Amino acid sequence: MTTVTAAEAAYVVAALLFILSLAGLSQHRTSRSGVVWGIAGMVVALAATVGLASRSITATGLVLIAVATALGAGIGLWRARVVEMTGMPELIAIMHSLVGLAATFVGWNGYLDVDAELTGSLLGIHHAEVFIGVFIGAVTFTGSVVAYLKLSARIDSRPLTLPGKHILNVGALVAFVGLTVAFVVRPGMGLLIAVTVIALALGAHLVASIGGGDMPVVVSMLNSYSGWAAAASGFLLANNLLIVTGALVGSSGAYLSYIMCKAMNRSFISVIAGGFGTPAAADDGEQGEHREINAEETARLLRDASSVIIAPGYGMAVAQAQYPVAELARKLRERGVEVRFGIHPVAGRLPGHMNVLLAEANVPYDIVLEMDEINDDFPATSVVLVIGANDTVNPAAIDNPASPIAGMPVLHVWEAGHVVVFKRSMAVGYAGVQNPLFFRENTQMLFGDAKQRVEDILRGLDALDTQVPEMAGTSR
Ligand code: TAP
Repeated sequence: MTTVTAAEAAYVVAALLFILSLAGLSQHRTSRSGVVWGIAGMVVALAATVGLASRSITATGLVLIAVATALGAGIGLWRARVVEMTGMPELIAIMHSLVGLAATFVGWNGYLDVDAELTGSLLGIHHAEVFIGVFIGAVTFTGSVVAYLKLSARIDSRPLTLPGKHILNVGALVAFVGLTVAFVVRPGMGLLIAVTVIALALGAHLVASIGGGDMPVVVSMLNSYSGWAAAASGFLLANNLLIVTGALVGSSGAYLSYIMCKAMNRSFISVIAGGFGTPAAADDGEQGEHREINAEETARLLRDASSVIIAPGYGMAVAQAQYPVAELARKLRERGVEVRFGIHPVAGRLPGHMNVLLAEANVPYDIVLEMDEINDDFPATSVVLVIGANDTVNPAAIDNPASPIAGMPVLHVWEAGHVVVFKRSMAVGYAGVQNPLFFRENTQMLFGDAKQRVEDILRGLDALDTQVPEMAGTSR
């Protein structure tokens, strides 16, 4: 068997391992084995690629590949070990930016180092591949960098609304098509520079135009773009595995974006077109006065409640409050209070974020319900504890058609008897919009770090146990 045949066979094995990996990752139960299949596929792919390359490169080249692999693996390992759960989306976004950058470089290299055997229409196809690869790569690169900056709160998460922003986007696409035709007919560095600049600007503008509330969709959409960028590089490098892997990532990312858009009642086209048709940031206006409550009063409220729903959000993750929250749920259930958790599909910063935290703290699965399963139960609930959630419990999504989160499904917490909101200040949530929930008659704010406040409540409940029980006054 020649090296080429062996490498091609290894690529087929690697592609199968990647498919097994995707299948494994689709369910909690099999996700660990999914990761193992993915690692195995990558090891096979790397070994085959280096084996293939060793036929045509010098010993120095091989040493450089080994150094680059060790450096990349070292940095990847270090980042993966130190990253906080709350920082995962940023890490993913910055990884996507590297895929985009690599695709842009591969495209440029394809232009600067054309295979002398390519002539006629094959050369034309090659130049089209170069142009498309550079375009997708550059859009992915800057789009992902802007997503990283928004997710890590280094820039404002509110949508950028340049005048005529949709005309700018459409203009960039039209220019891309025109320049592609020109480049295939008469390739030149000026055209390639022009498309690189346009794509870099378009990527940044598309993601900057999307509001914070829609960022989960953007992250999975950039995941898809990075797959297509890798597939484009595969065509240029005549590497079948890169084409297959890129297409797997591209199509699964696109499908995930579609599912997320459906869950968040967003138009897929609107999100990929840079927030087309979504309202600009609304003026939050005067909301009135908020009311405050302390931990002892909250403990009393909970002692007298018959049913409690806990709506956790990003703040619970930041405070690492899941353990005392689990303890609170356990204590209340021991007292005969019905306690359940209501989980919004995009609460926190990554899909399933809250479920993972609650599972970590051993909260029983059967009391953790999805938004659709619990939304009708709020009117019959005594007390809702909103622990570090904000956008996902914002009634403006329903009441205010001008809000940037209008139409997004939310947990109807305000329909309960009492709502206690745990947060540190009156600051806005991730989408950058004020939350009218905080000013409702039946809402009280419990300020401070969520973990400390929940621990205070636990102490408050213990203290109440030592007192003579009072008449229940708040249960419904
Ligand atoms: P957010 O709207 O992000 O609000 C979190 C709240 O937690 C803030 O109001 C903050 O208020 C509070 N907080 C932060 N640290 C706290 C602490 N130590 N103790 C107590 N409170 C604390 O949360 P959410 O309701 O979970 O919504 C998630 C948002 O992120 C949505 O807009 C969603 O679209 C977006 N997003 C989600 C994902 C995925 S896939 N889940 C990915 C990217 C973006 P203070 O600062 O006043 O404390």
